Amino acid sequence: MSDEESKSESAMDNTEDKPKSDAPTTANGEPLHGVLAEYHTPKELLAAAEKIRDAGYTVWDTYSPFPVHGIEKAQGIPWTILPWLVFGAGCTGLTVGLGMQLWTNGVDYKYLISGKPFFSIAANIPITFEITVLFSALTAFGGMLALNRLPKPSHALDHVERFNRVTDDRFFALIEATDPKFDDTATRTLIAETSPHHVEDVPADTRSENLPKFFTYVAAFLALTALIPLGYAYSVRGTTSTQPRIHIVPDMDFQQKFKPQRGNPFFEDGRAMRPQIEGTVASGDLQDDSHFYRGKVGKAWARTFPSRFTPNEAAMQRGRERYDIFCVPCHSVTGNGSGIVAQHALELAEGTWIPPTNLTLANIKQQPVGELYNTITHGIRNMPAYGSQIDPEDRWAIVLYVRALQRAQAGNVSHVPAAKRAGLK
Ligand code: HEC
Repeated sequence: MSDEESKSESAMDNTEDKPKSDAPTTANGEPLHGVLAEYHTPKELLAAAEKIRDAGYTVWDTYSPFPVHGIEKAQGIPWTILPWLVFGAGCTGLTVGLGMQLWTNGVDYKYLISGKPFFSIAANIPITFEITVLFSALTAFGGMLALNRLPKPSHALDHVERFNRVTDDRFFALIEATDPKFDDTATRTLIAETSPHHVEDVPADTRSENLPKFFTYVAAFLALTALIPLGYAYSVRGTTSTQPRIHIVPDMDFQQKFKPQRGNPFFEDGRAMRPQIEGTVASGDLQDDSHFYRGKVGKAWARTFPSRFTPNEAAMQRGRERYDIFCVPCHSVTGNGSGIVAQHALELAEGTWIPPTNLTLANIKQQPVGELYNTITHGIRNMPAYGSQIDPEDRWAIVLYVRALQRAQAGNVSHVPAAKRAGLK
């Protein structure tokens, strides 16, 4: 019998010969779920699928341990509508995301932040994107379950012993009795033509295909409990409370730490701040070189640079740079004391201003380097201290540069190197 013949024959059987009440049964007389055919290779399954498809069956399926290439085409499975559902959900998410932000920020609760527009596409992309993805993903997941009519806790094939090998090395095709073209003899003949290794009647599943009632009750219960927090939030909205807020995620608002000047019972003296242990010096903080760190040799100001500092061209450059940063605002580039701060103070003429000293005056020139160093470190009278901002090495470099400024004021042609004299104006 050719495919064409079988097709017309079964079509005829279905419409004319068979009254609806005469439901197909298995050999034992049980109601029939379908006829199961077993194959040993994907190739056999593909060939069988094509035959069944061409015979015009619609309620049937194939089962294999792994995806068989080309099976969709061989079965004539139409393209799923899931992508369209996901696309629709994505568009909805996009609109909801944008619309929500447009409404909250742009219409309902306008809030001006640094003159930015209330609504702009660019600023709202992240949330729009998230909601688009969220809606799409949930639809893809839920749609897949719904289209496959899952979850299905029981299936007629669960009770077929041979079918267990579908996860191992056997391939199956099942034509269900509910197929409009199903006919007890014609269908079996068609299956026999696909040369299966085994054919079996699958009795209808007597167990319920629906989830047990228990699940429904639990789901309903959970849904109701989920409403409690919402209801509570609704009932207390707008009320005030003296209680601190419930901190579910405390972040760093509360920390296990001791604040300065507070008590700490852990220590014997009850103080949180620990005093330095007497006689100890932090590693690298031992400043025993009095010449270098304090500008003093014995009790007198040092008259020479310390041995740890080398007064060379590089040190002079460094000194100039530091001087320009730290001293120029008050003492000016030439050191004469008319820096921009001093000029401005004179303009304000507030009367309390003590002008910065002219560093090129004779009395400052006569000061030992150690004394200049000390002035930078600790400040003097109205001049603030710079020791905390400038490290000792740089303080000496500044002293070196101040010496150069003092020299420059009293310079004459003989101080200029012979080679450079020609360039002087
Ligand atoms: C904020 C302004 C200001 C800055 C910055 C400043 N000074 Fe002074 N400096 C003064 C003033 C004001 C005096 C005079 C203080 C007084 O007589 O009460 C002074 C005095 C001095 C003196 C004279 C000290 C003495 O023995 O009379 C020296 C030297 C000096 N400054 C060096 C420096 C150096 C070097 C720097 C850069 C590290 C510097 N100053 C940065 C305001 C400044």
